[in-house]
Amino acid sequence: MKILVTGGAGYIGSHTVVELFAAGHTPVIVDDLSNSHEWIIDRIAEISGKKPLFYKGDCTDMKFLSDVFVKESSIDGAIHFAAFKAVGESIEKPLEYYRNNINSLLTLLDVAVENNMHNIVFSSSATVYGEPESNPITEDAPRQEATCPYGNTKSIAEDILRDTTVAYPQIHAIALRYFNPIGAHPSGRIGELPNGVPNNLVPYVTQAAAGKRDELTVFGDDYATPDGTCMRDFIHVVDLAQAHIRTLEYLQEQSKNAKHYDYINIGTGTGTSVLDLLTTFKKVNKIAVPYKIGPRRAGDIKKCWANATKAKKLLNWQAKLTVADALKDAWRWEQSL
Ligand code: UFG
Repeated sequence: MKILVTGGAGYIGSHTVVELFAAGHTPVIVDDLSNSHEWIIDRIAEISGKKPLFYKGDCTDMKFLSDVFVKESSIDGAIHFAAFKAVGESIEKPLEYYRNNINSLLTLLDVAVENNMHNIVFSSSATVYGEPESNPITEDAPRQEATCPYGNTKSIAEDILRDTTVAYPQIHAIALRYFNPIGAHPSGRIGELPNGVPNNLVPYVTQAAAGKRDELTVFGDDYATPDGTCMRDFIHVVDLAQAHIRTLEYLQEQSKNAKHYDYINIGTGTGTSVLDLLTTFKKVNKIAVPYKIGPRRAGDIKKCWANATKAKKLLNWQAKLTVADALKDAWRWEQSL
């Protein structure tokens, strides 16, 4: 299949492009490089042995996106990653976040309708569940009001997809609700490139281990969890990337039988605490991470991990890699920077 990958030079996008090639598909990357670099495209080519088609541009630009469809013709489906993703920044710049994240999806949907493209996989997030009543979280759990504009754009985007697939039944869309993606490609050639001081745990951990940051602050050790620190479902980015390919293949196989709109958790099904993650990092990489315990971070969820049985049942997908694998790969990547 020829698959449009918006945000294909980003963290999850670049790993997904590699997996698309590995599965015999033809990725077409669209990315404005606002949070990535052109050399990532070369790295994808190095890993895959094939250079991906690449169009530099903004997904909110209808003319640009329409032109890509005209030039490429017969695009079979799209994976939509292109979005701003920093929680804190979204609170400071809500209008930019709503404008970019919502407009890019609307533009893609307009272009999909216009060009008769049927299948869309959307990059959603477990953030839509808020603080869940219980874990593991099934897809039946209610969505809760988002604590930041970024999270809200994911929820709104899910509603837009649901409503659009009612009005245009030729379109099938699946929102994948990611838990916490971590790690890097095992080659060490692509990985996460945080902008400035990392917000997320693992890039901060690797930078602290590398001496680029003095020490990690663990945000709170007084939560009602076994060791007092928050628990998350950390999923290797390569497993996550493969879930997207399985989703597109599922949509293609099922064709008219698939629901027009669906949403699926993508996680490992296991909760790991922040301190457990630090212990595993030290064990597999033989390097300790300097850290201190600090106050809780506002808005943090205490515990959050997936029930991943829907992904197994519908997509025949489940995570194969471990947190240890991801931390080894993240450290290899950090050392290459
Ligand atoms: N943490 C620290 N120190 C740090 C960074 C993180 O202790 O320097 C802890 C956090 O408190 C949290 C855990 O590590 O308990 C994971 O934090 P991340 O920031 O890596 O991930 P979150 O679960 O907070 O973020 C995820 C997604 C976001 C999403 C957010 C919404 O990565 O995309 O959930 O809650 F918006």
